[in-house]
Amino acid sequence: MQIPDIVIAIDGCSSTGKSSFAKLLAKELGFLYLDSGALYRGVTLFAQEEHYISRMNIIRPELEEALQTLPLRFNSDNRTFIGDRCIEKEIRTMEVSAQVSPIAAVPYVRAFVDAKLHEAAAARRVVMDGRDIGTTVFPDAEVKIFMTASEEVRARRRYDELVAKGEYPVMEEVVENLRQRDYIDSHRETSPLCRAADSYLLDNSDMTLKEEVEWVKGLIRGKYTIYD
Ligand code: CDP
Repeated sequence: MQIPDIVIAIDGCSSTGKSSFAKLLAKELGFLYLDSGALYRGVTLFAQEEHYISRMNIIRPELEEALQTLPLRFNSDNRTFIGDRCIEKEIRTMEVSAQVSPIAAVPYVRAFVDAKLHEAAAARRVVMDGRDIGTTVFPDAEVKIFMTASEEVRARRRYDELVAKGEYPVMEEVVENLRQRDYIDSHRETSPLCRAADSYLLDNSDMTLKEEVEWVKGLIRGKYTIYD
């Protein structure tokens, strides 16, 4: 499928399956995949390890300066690194999930992540997932999708994902974390999670990943009158 140099923005609440969907879509289209949440998680891990954030979510203002030299990046197969250290596993734990939303609500943290995303997407041809990609980071994205799924389905997905990674999650805690993050993400002052007016809604509660990808490919074919 020959498609132009476009940006595909995928936003939505926690655990709606954005990243699996975005990853597969990018692979099928030959696009770059960018996981903006991984960068917020990377900043959170850094803030925790270097004691810029307390257990009570109090963030030391020195974090702003520390970010100036933080070598947070993706490698060529989309794994997240700080310098030479792969942090892919550490950023997906419940400890990081518990503090990522307060960190992501800080305006200078958002500016730091936005700059990294723009740098990586300079040539366009990217699929990017997050909370504010279609509204703030790339308001000019040609294709915007807003994903939703029922809370039950989302909690089950996150629970299974943590189990598969060897963690021992408690279902009630998983549900509580999703609710809290959705609340903070939707109510923060700087680029809150909200659906872009020109986005397509994708409720994948009862869809397989393959069906989701076929759905969006159909949408792209229609938009650009592509016949193959
Ligand atoms: O994996 P999950 O979908 O639950 O979250 P994620 O995409 O890894 O993002 C983790 C957190 O980063 C979210 O709960 C948001 O607080 C924050 N985030 C954001 O504020 N804006 C984005 N574009 C992406 C993530």
